[in-house]
Amino acid sequence: MLRDRIRHLPLLDRVVSAEEAAAMIKDGMTVGMSGFTRAGEAKAVPMALAELAREHPLKITLITGASLGNDLDKTLTAANVLARRMPFQSDPGLRKAINAGEVMYIDQHLSETVEQLRTGQIKPVDIAIIEAVAITENGGIVPTTSVGNSASFAILADKVIIEINLSQPVTLEGLHDIYIPARRPSRMPIPVVTPDSRVGLPYIPIPPEKIAAIVISEKHDSSATILPPDDETRAIAGNLSDFLLNEVKHGRMGYDLQPLQAGIGTIANAVLHGFIDAPFRDLKMYSEVLQDSTFELLDSGKLTFASGSSITLSAQMYQNVLPRLAEYKHQLILRPQEISNHPEVIRRLGLICINTAMEFDLYGNVNSTHVGGTHMMNGIGGSGDFARNAYMSVFVTKSIAKNGAISSVVPMVSHVDHTEHDVDVLVTEVGLADLRGLAPRERAPVIIANCVHPIYRDALTDYFDRAQKRGGQTPHVIEEALSWHAALRERGTMLPG
Ligand code: COA
Repeated sequence: MLRDRIRHLPLLDRVVSAEEAAAMIKDGMTVGMSGFTRAGEAKAVPMALAELAREHPLKITLITGASLGNDLDKTLTAANVLARRMPFQSDPGLRKAINAGEVMYIDQHLSETVEQLRTGQIKPVDIAIIEAVAITENGGIVPTTSVGNSASFAILADKVIIEINLSQPVTLEGLHDIYIPARRPSRMPIPVVTPDSRVGLPYIPIPPEKIAAIVISEKHDSSATILPPDDETRAIAGNLSDFLLNEVKHGRMGYDLQPLQAGIGTIANAVLHGFIDAPFRDLKMYSEVLQDSTFELLDSGKLTFASGSSITLSAQMYQNVLPRLAEYKHQLILRPQEISNHPEVIRRLGLICINTAMEFDLYGNVNSTHVGGTHMMNGIGGSGDFARNAYMSVFVTKSIAKNGAISSVVPMVSHVDHTEHDVDVLVTEVGLADLRGLAPRERAPVIIANCVHPIYRDALTDYFDRAQKRGGQTPHVIEEALSWHAALRERGTMLPG
């Protein structure tokens, strides 16, 4: 059985316990670990590392693809192992430590991390820990449910630890497309010209001598934490579908639209789910995370192909999809995140990018990361990679949060992730604001009329009226611009007192 998974036979000698492998990680090291949005993370070795650290304290820099499942970030935080963490997380325990200043968090565009590693702009990876479904005859690593940054970690690290996960189906082999861009300035164009372009290898090529240890694990990926669609998310999906249908009717795109990217989380998943009932057909995705909605759209026949960097599913969908992976294989590709999120490819393919805002302002600047302007939620993830380079950049959110104590549309965002220049369309359950071709002074009335919850509409109209009287390209009552956030902090609500 193990010989089917470790097909480069001399490597059978390197099988060790998780504890032995974890002991290779020393204080001060930078560890590059597989894992992208709760999919395909190494599981046994980091758990063993947390245990070891309780006896022998150590601190590391942990770089992954994106967020981790199996409460790994929580466990490593509780064991005081994390000095620095990048480029994305979504764990409440780690979030708390980041906001307390205990863990230094580098919140980074997901396409950029390995570019910086490759060029020595950030400290090199000492050890890579990669979850794999198999090691090929020539020592190549076959990743599991995500590729993320795993390929470059393995290629760039001094030593590689492999976790062969026996619970991950062998049918995953053949799904991945590992293409690593050449060094700059002599890099050639990345040859991805359609979402289904296969341009690389089905495994990560590394010299087998670099594999220092192999650990056998059986733990499953954690399921996604997304909630099912509700009235508001259904309304957001409806507003966006109607808008896109109008684009089709005006001849700006066909019923196959443009390739789609959809961000993480409940809202983006619900929006895509809503496309099942829309009249679009022959859709394609060139995205980052393939969530439940991707498979629902594939099953409905609306979607014909999906390219991503990970498969992150709810518990029920995981049980449906993984045993049937072979059936989906001709419709799926998993790529390194620097390719799934590459500006060059995103611009070339002309993606409709749908990401989630926490708040946006009168002029279309978007905050996706910071609560109240200071406290980290998750991170920018790939949203910036996609928004800036999109054919059409859409941001969605509910118009209010916390039972109306927070308006998602504010006079000025308290932190900017996506500037007004990167935002074309804003959608809430109230309606949709098409900002294309509009100057800031024209954007504000469109946003107020179409996106703001009725309980905040008068206050925002009043603010804009007074701001306009002061003049400017982007009018503000500057001393009041963050007063809604100040009220939330002081009184627990943005509603006028
Ligand atoms: N201020 C404070 N909290 C807010 C808020 C605001 N303006 N807007 C939303 N929230 C809170 C919600 O109340 C909810 O809190 P809870 O977890 O305590 O219930 C939480 O943020 C999540 O919001 P929700 O409405 O459930 O949306 P979501 O699950 O779709 O997540 C983001 C929204 C913005 C947090 C999430 O999409 C994200 O992290 N995005 C950044 C990364 C990204 O876009 N990647 C995409 C490329 S794949």
